Amino acid sequence: MYAERVLSGMRPTGRLHLGHYHGVLKNWVKLQEEYPCLFFVADWHALTTAYDSPQVIEESIWDMLIDWLAAGVDPAQATLFIQSRVPEHAELHLLLSMMCPLGWLERVPTYKDQQEKLAEKDLSTYGFLGYPLLQSADILIYRADKVPVGEDQIPHIEFTREIARRFNHLYGREPGFEDKAREAVKKLGAKRARLYEELRTRFQQDGDQAAVEQARALLEEAQNLSLGDRERLYGYLEGGGKMILVEPEALLTEASRMPGLDGQKMSKSYGNTIFLREDDESVTKKIRTMQTDPARVRRTDPGDPDKCPVWQFHVIYSDDGTREWVQQGCRSAGIGCIECKQPVIEAVLKEQGEMRERARPYLEDPTLLRNIIADGCERARKLAQETMRDVREAMGLSYG
Ligand code: TRP
Ligand code: SF4
Repeated sequence: MYAERVLSGMRPTGRLHLGHYHGVLKNWVKLQEEYPCLFFVADWHALTTAYDSPQVIEESIWDMLIDWLAAGVDPAQATLFIQSRVPEHAELHLLLSMMCPLGWLERVPTYKDQQEKLAEKDLSTYGFLGYPLLQSADILIYRADKVPVGEDQIPHIEFTREIARRFNHLYGREPGFEDKAREAVKKLGAKRARLYEELRTRFQQDGDQAAVEQARALLEEAQNLSLGDRERLYGYLEGGGKMILVEPEALLTEASRMPGLDGQKMSKSYGNTIFLREDDESVTKKIRTMQTDPARVRRTDPGDPDKCPVWQFHVIYSDDGTREWVQQGCRSAGIGCIECKQPVIEAVLKEQGEMRERARPYLEDPTLLRNIIADGCERARKLAQETMRDVREAMGLSYG
């Protein structure tokens, strides 16, 4: 009943690398062509763990945005903004905190996991416990129905769905809902009203799915309904109250197949990354000195691509012919590792060159990016304010 909308966020915690590109950004670039998309910098989320060193956040924000643009995220298609510039996220977070059971937060698996992983930090804070709820506010405030995330974030989306359901259950039923809904039915006009009632009965008595879909289509076509009445009729149809917040769905992003230079997951903390827009010389050197199958001590020793991180790079960057050449040459010791790495180096440099090219105008003129973000924040804010109006009203906070 609400328009389709994609939303995702990223914490500004340092420079982005090829793992982010192949794991996340390429997917965003694809999605922006298929749906209206909102992508934002989750600076408040970064503060939950970096509250004692906020400089990193400030330093990373603009570089990260340039990396997004370099990767092909297109501000003409997607809305780009910064979380803290849309303070409505904080208001929704606060209001949701009133009805969010403490136990739900304590049970989110990332809570204990992250505390253990970042044991050197004191994360027994109010803000860190509320991390998933702030994320829920980020999503629900745009009534986003699709949230592209990695596997680790699935519990947060599930949590968000539960919060939305609880909210709609508690506040979706406005006083006099039934009467208002019946009044709204009349506004459909006699013929449509009769059909709506019939379909509603068929759905509620027999669970007839086709009937509910037909009724939804009928509501979509009805032009003279106010937004409020439309919502009431959707709610009335399925026996619930008014649906104020939309339950989102996770769009599971396939784990990046991009390994680090040592074959482990690419991650800044392992020091095995190639950053986005890194200079040619440094990229070349990193790949040249990259680990290979340890069995190939001498040039004449045959190897096994399955035991070599360079092969994983070929999987991402090379065509079938080149891959065949690697398989053959490696297993027969027909090619050396330096030779094998050459096509990878060329492909990565080409990709990096394209990214640098896309980033250039923003580096030359910083106001360009400032304007894109100002514009995106404004657009996001309008959407957020619309939801907040409904939320305040539902919670009985729109006095006078
Ligand atoms: N928690 C997410 C992460 O660490 C970042 C994030 C914050 C987010 N708010 C969001 C992602 C809303 C999707 C939707 O990756
Ligand atoms: Fe790895 Fe290529 Fe060397 Fe084989 S030839 S070990 S795939 S770098």
